[in-house]
Amino acid sequence: MIEYSISKETSTDILVLPFFKEQLELPQSSIFSGKIREHVSQVLNSDDFEGSALESELVFTQLDDTPRVLLLGLGEQGELTIRNWKQSFGQAINQIQDRELDSLNFLLTEHNTPDFSIKKVIKETVTAISTANYAFDKYKDEEDKTHRIKRVNFVSQFEQSANQLERVIQKAKYISRGVNLTRDLGNTPPSTMTPTLLAEHAEKIGKETDKLEVEILSQSEIEDLGMGCFLGVAKGSDMAPKFIIMEYSGGGDKENPTVLAGKGITFDSGGLSLKPSKHMTDMKFDMLGAGTVLGVMQALAKLESKQNITAIIPSCENMPGSKAYRPDDVLESMNGKTVEIGNTDAEGRLTLADAFNYINENYNPEELIDFATLTGACMVALGKQRSGIFGSEDRYVEKFINSGEQVGEQLWRLPLGEEYSEAMKSPIADISNFSDQKWAGASTAAAFLQFFVEDDEYPWLHIDLSSSYYGKKGKPWAGPGANGFGVQTTVEYLMS
Ligand code: BES
Ligand code: ZN
Ligand code: ZN
Repeated sequence: MIEYSISKETSTDILVLPFFKEQLELPQSSIFSGKIREHVSQVLNSDDFEGSALESELVFTQLDDTPRVLLLGLGEQGELTIRNWKQSFGQAINQIQDRELDSLNFLLTEHNTPDFSIKKVIKETVTAISTANYAFDKYKDEEDKTHRIKRVNFVSQFEQSANQLERVIQKAKYISRGVNLTRDLGNTPPSTMTPTLLAEHAEKIGKETDKLEVEILSQSEIEDLGMGCFLGVAKGSDMAPKFIIMEYSGGGDKENPTVLAGKGITFDSGGLSLKPSKHMTDMKFDMLGAGTVLGVMQALAKLESKQNITAIIPSCENMPGSKAYRPDDVLESMNGKTVEIGNTDAEGRLTLADAFNYINENYNPEELIDFATLTGACMVALGKQRSGIFGSEDRYVEKFINSGEQVGEQLWRLPLGEEYSEAMKSPIADISNFSDQKWAGASTAAAFLQFFVEDDEYPWLHIDLSSSYYGKKGKPWAGPGANGFGVQTTVEYLMS
């Protein structure tokens, strides 16, 4: 974990100075010695650095206490978003890691910060830095591990007391820790990140605070509850399914909880409707709905949220073992509704159906939000940097999308509708898990979920997580693998 501070301390390995395109001049500040001014001004007056977004230029100063300055381009001031800002910082961090430096100073002035409040700037900068500093390298040789930055100091010229800003830093650290937890869970190989290990992580989070109770239901308890859809999916694997229940009580006894549900398929082979190998790689990430929920729960508990929040995670593997459920089977879910199986690769919705049944039976949700790597179709529609959102009430959908904008995560609303529900009808059961029309796969999947939601009783949001991982390459501002999408947005949504 990076150590953050706010001080006038100037001694550092590298000073990071962001510039807008139309403001390529050094701010007035006593922290610039004559040498820094001289070297940096030279670059600013040349054509080598224009301040374009994601542009950067390293300047050597020949000074012992600040040997390097990194000029960071932010593009045009009027066009700056939190997302660009975080990406610029993220990629600066990755460059600093490549140079194996330990500490950086960041000068905050009115001229180089966006029009957001200083608290917001600090919060988003800290999350950008802490998440960019993350790398999943535990399986690498010691020498090949990514270098981690150890200290970041903000040289602030703002009036807020250091105390206030330090509180913001602490909050941002909790949120980043949640994001990086989600990424660790997602990146861990699937034979290790089993439903049992996922449940152990939930228990570990529970031990961090008295206000969080965690209960794990075993296979026989899940059987006793009659979760035929969830168990149907789990049957093809030797690994025991787990049903994770987390109850955080930050609010009063009588307050209804906000319920978060997460798809927790620790590996999705497709089952008997086996995926082609090209589509099977990356399916360790199919538990990232659950991962997001766990990251959010950890962060909210540390932030001492004043609400009651419950998390429900059905977790199992989708494998084609000899006991596997079959296409043409009919499964009976916990509420008695039957589902005809058209394709065993449409498994996430079956596990969530029983999670929703459990929620309807045991809680009176204030609202229900589910997170799921539910469909390839959502990724086809939106790509890997924007997730799909569905919802029964406009106000809630808009608030969630807006919360995403506040933290630099992108969502796009996709439709629910009669025609999608119609497409999920089965001639022999109450509903089918598969529509043979090949269009609108994200919406037909959402329509399936909607069948199990009591959306006239509570608002429901469904997030189809297309942007939960970047794949093998990563981005200039974040390493490869799981990116923790959704944790920051959800925390913002629930805390604001
Ligand atoms: N886990 C997948 C969805 C997925 C695919 C997420 C690729 C991220 C990347 C899901 O269980 C699945 O296989 N869905 C099928 C549904 C189809 C059989 C109706 C899909 O999207 O092809
Ligand atoms: Zn699948
Ligand atoms: Zn899946």
